[in-house]
Amino acid sequence: MKVAVVGAAGGIGQPLSLLLKLSPLVDELSLYDLFHTPGISADLNHIDTGAKVAGYLADENGFEGALSNADLVIIPAGVPRKPGMTRDDLFNLNGGIISNIAENCARYCPNANILVISNPVNSTVAIVAEVFKKHGVFNPRRLFGVTTLDLVRSNSFISQLSKDKLKSNELNVQVIGGHSGETIVPIFSHNSNKSLVEFYNSLNSEQRDTLIHRVQFGGDEVVAAKKGTGSATLSMAYSGFRLAENIIKAINGEENIIESSFINLNGDIQGSREVKNYINTKGFTEVEYISLPVKLGPRGVESIEYDILNNINSNEEELLSVALSQLSNNISKGVNFVRGA
Ligand code: NAD
Ligand code: LMR
Repeated sequence: MKVAVVGAAGGIGQPLSLLLKLSPLVDELSLYDLFHTPGISADLNHIDTGAKVAGYLADENGFEGALSNADLVIIPAGVPRKPGMTRDDLFNLNGGIISNIAENCARYCPNANILVISNPVNSTVAIVAEVFKKHGVFNPRRLFGVTTLDLVRSNSFISQLSKDKLKSNELNVQVIGGHSGETIVPIFSHNSNKSLVEFYNSLNSEQRDTLIHRVQFGGDEVVAAKKGTGSATLSMAYSGFRLAENIIKAINGEENIIESSFINLNGDIQGSREVKNYINTKGFTEVEYISLPVKLGPRGVESIEYDILNNINSNEEELLSVALSQLSNNISKGVNFVRGA
C-alpha cells in the first residue's frame, strides 16, 4: 500500500504523515512538497514502524517518484485562510496549485484514489475531476473531497453541549452538502444513536441553531484562534487519516465501511440516480457533487447511502436547499477554471 502526501511539509501534511507512518496498513509513504520533505522523511524513518518513507521535492522527477504506483494520494497542498477570508478567497491561488498536481496525478497515478483536502474543497474537487476528464482517466469512484472534519466537529460539539453525557468517541453524526459555511449541513435529527437524537430533540430552537451554526463555521473558530497563522491542521490531519484509513481497509477487502465524502454524482455509482431524483423532486438546485455517506470497497466508492435524505427533518431540508444553491456555484467555478469558460 503506497500512500503519497502532496503538501507534506505543511501544517496538515506533517502530522498527517506521522499518522500514516504509524499505521500498520501503510507500506510505503511518499512525501512531496516544495520544501523540507527530505528532512521530514529522514526524521520519520527513525520511527520503528513498518512504512518506508521517501521525500520528494519539485525537481525534475519529484512528481514521478512520489506518485508512481501510489494507491492513495492525499492533497493538503496550498494556502490556508487568514481571519476575514472565506475559503473561496483561496480559489485563484489554490486552484492553480491543485490543477498542476492533478495533471501530474493523471500522468503518473491515474488509477489512484485521490483525496482532496485543499480549499475551497467545493471547487477544488471539480478541478481535479476536470483535469482527469481532459486526460481521459476520470473515475468518479476514486475521487474524494475530504469533509470528514465536519463530521468530527459535529461529534465533538454536540458532546460538549451535552457536558460529556454523550461520549464523542461513541458518536457518528452525518454531515451532508459541501465544505464551507452554509453548504455544511449536519444531520442531528436522525441517527442510529437514540441518545443523541433524544438529546438533540431536548434542545430549544435557539440551542439547535447555535449548534448547527458552530458546525457550519467551525473552521472560522480555529482561524480566529490562530490569529493569522493558519487554519485547522491537527484536527484535519486526524480527519484526513480517518478517511484514508477507511479507504485502505476497504481496498484490503474489509466490508461495510461507510464514510462520508464529497463525491461526483455523474458516474454509474449506485445511489447517484436516487440522489438526483430526490433533489429534483424537492425542487432544489441540481449539483454534480455532494457530500453524503458512501459505502467503500476495493473499487473506491461502491454506493451512496442516500437513505439519509429521506430521514432528515424540515429544518435540515431547508438548510440543504440553501446549501445546494451555493454548492452549485462553487462547483461551476471549479469546472470553468479548467474548461477556461
Ligand atoms: P500550510 O501552508 O501549512 O501547508 C501547505 C503546504 O503546501 C506547504 O508546505 C506548501 O509548501 C505546500 N505547497 C504549496 N504549493 C504546493 C505545490 N504546488 N506543490 C506541493 N506542495 C505545495 O497549509 P495547511 O494548514 O496545511 O492547509 C493546507 C490546505 O488545506 C489549505 O488550503 C486549507 O484551507 C486546507 N484545509 C482543508 C480542510 C478540510 O476540511 N478539507 C481543513 C483544514 C485545512
Ligand atoms: C476547516 O474547516 O477548518 C478548513 O476548511 C479550514 C478553513 O479554512 O476553515
